[in-house]
Amino acid sequence: MSYNLLQGKRGIIFGALDENSIAWQVAECCHEQGAQLVLTNAPVALRFGKIQELGEKLGAEVIPADATKLEDLDNLLLKSMEILGGKIDFILHSIGMSINVRKKRAYTDLNHDWSLKSIDISALSFHKVLQQAMKHDAISDGGSVLALTYIAAQRVFPGYNEMAESKALLESIARSFGYHYAVKKNVRINTVSQSPTQTTAGSGIKGFSDFFDYAEKMSPLGNADARSCAEYCVTLFSDLTRMVTMQNLYHDGGFSSVGMNPAVIGLEDE
Ligand SMILES: NC(=O)c1ccc[n+]([C@@H]2O[C@H](COP(=O)([O-])OP(=O)(O)OC[C@H]3O[C@@H](n4cnc5c(N)ncnc54)[C@H](O)[C@@H]3O)[C@@H](O)[C@H]2O)c1
Repeated sequence: MSYNLLQGKRGIIFGALDENSIAWQVAECCHEQGAQLVLTNAPVALRFGKIQELGEKLGAEVIPADATKLEDLDNLLLKSMEILGGKIDFILHSIGMSINVRKKRAYTDLNHDWSLKSIDISALSFHKVLQQAMKHDAISDGGSVLALTYIAAQRVFPGYNEMAESKALLESIARSFGYHYAVKKNVRINTVSQSPTQTTAGSGIKGFSDFFDYAEKMSPLGNADARSCAEYCVTLFSDLTRMVTMQNLYHDGGFSSVGMNPAVIGLEDE
């Protein structure tokens, strides 16, 4: 249902690969709520993914950008302002990739060159987006920027491997840059810590489907799906949350607050 929460707003969405991507759902939801969008992904993802299909559906231009490359980000930000006709009101960073996870290297046997690449793609890219946006004064006063994260930044989930460090850094960047951007331009920066979700990146995590079922049982509301994550993101892009910044916000059906759920060990609820 549309409440026109983003009517007249301009947004950039990173990371829609296919219809399972959380970013895909966020783009659709933002469009339903009246936003005008530019979609972006790494050049290789444009060749293999389905982002062009989404662009056509939403009437959104697709601009390739490797989020680790400053020149790509400059081009993306400047072209987006030109296409959308003004400064950007909201940005979603929905980017994650670990070569060690992809190549099934154990956490205790990492290839550290690959780790540096993973951290660059999954965390530092967020700083790069914010830094270039500030340089070009590309985000409007009171704008909102979100990145997607996971609770493995705070607690140990062994199968999540080195992505835990990337997410910890990502959340730290949201706080640190959130300070500077708030003081300068009233721009809000937050991370949304999402339930396990069946996507290309999610399914790459070791033992994902068993873990997905575990989290489903552990969370009093069950796992939050990509569509509900998208709806939550819309509220955070809207003017209704204009005083929320520098937060890591759990969107996980209550998982993060549960110590023990009887359902997990087959006991009846009291
Ligand atoms: N799926 C889950 O269980 C889950 C849970 C919590 C948080 N997240 C986070 O949500 C975000 C989106 O992941 P997803 O699950 O939708 O999977 P996804 O695979 O659909 O999205 C990941 C995206 O990152 C993009 N990407 C990789 N390298 C890039 C680069 N150099 N430049 C630009 N883009 C690049 C990929 O092309 C892809 O579109 C990630 O940050 C992920 O860690 C996912």
